[in-house]
Amino acid sequence: MNRSDYVRQLLEGQSTQPQKSVGSAFAPSNIALCKYWGKRDAELNLPVNSSLSISLGDLGTHTEIAVLDGESDQISLNGQLLAADHNFSVRLANYLDLFRNDQNRSFSVKTTNSIPTAAGLASSASGFAALVKALSDLFGWTLTDRELTTLARLGSGSASRSLYQGFVQWHAGEKSDGSDSFAEALEFTWPNLRIGILEVATGPKATGSTAGMNRTTASSPLFAAWPETAANDLKVIKEALTAQDFQKLGETAEGNAIAMHATMMAARPALFYWTPDSLAKILQVQQLRANGLPVYFTMDAGPNLKLLFEKETEAEILKHFPTLQIIHPFAV
Ligand code: PMV
Repeated sequence: MNRSDYVRQLLEGQSTQPQKSVGSAFAPSNIALCKYWGKRDAELNLPVNSSLSISLGDLGTHTEIAVLDGESDQISLNGQLLAADHNFSVRLANYLDLFRNDQNRSFSVKTTNSIPTAAGLASSASGFAALVKALSDLFGWTLTDRELTTLARLGSGSASRSLYQGFVQWHAGEKSDGSDSFAEALEFTWPNLRIGILEVATGPKATGSTAGMNRTTASSPLFAAWPETAANDLKVIKEALTAQDFQKLGETAEGNAIAMHATMMAARPALFYWTPDSLAKILQVQQLRANGLPVYFTMDAGPNLKLLFEKETEAEILKHFPTLQIIHPFAV
């Protein structure tokens, strides 16, 4: 099945005309504790493995969308109108093609991020989730959240997890039509959990996640071990959430991120998102832990670290990482 057929089928019976002048929505960014890496179907963005994330509260994307009379979309990012051939405009316009309904319809999209765009801080996740929610608001769709997660998935896999706050699982599913590959909110909470964004480098990443995944699945001899590793890590993370066992959560999330990066490093040609500064911070975190401070890290397709710790150690952690941006995922 191709993605337009998928969308047509899902939106059958839903309104195709705007129900208001502007649709608007917010979606949080999310950080995976058990990562999504590898596609079983590139067209429908179906993953090889299930993943589990934590949403970042009020850090994310706010989007406003309206239907335009003009020939082309008008896309602005953080208050700046973008050229039509800007990477971001092209990606959004391609996605919006799914919702033009064969009419010569353009959109105005105003999107504002409270996180750095494309610095490996998952802004595409909150971006596509906010866009789907804003489209739904504009057209007055009556889809369930679960159905909206499958629409967001078509924009960016991790976006499926940004429809909710808290801990979220994206089920890989097995069906070739993608209908069982959706995200759902998990019932666990952890009010004392803290996420620290440790920015090592800003600016867009060198290799996007889709290209990175494709290169890894096509050429990394270590990728064969990944689906089972991820399935097991996901199970252990859910046990840790049930028991509120921070050490188990941290160890498993950190190990999962390192295993994912190992599959990339073994790709041919090799794919390194780590810089020397990333590695220095990794070693610092491990040394702090050896000295008795419970802190762990995770990393995505970029050089920055996300630290995992609890409220009790917040002041101590800040002494070691004074520039850390600390997020309270359950404060919202
Ligand atoms: O959703 P994408 O295509 O941007 O891929 C996200 C990949 C990772 O951030 C590395 C892992 C994840 O599960 O978020």
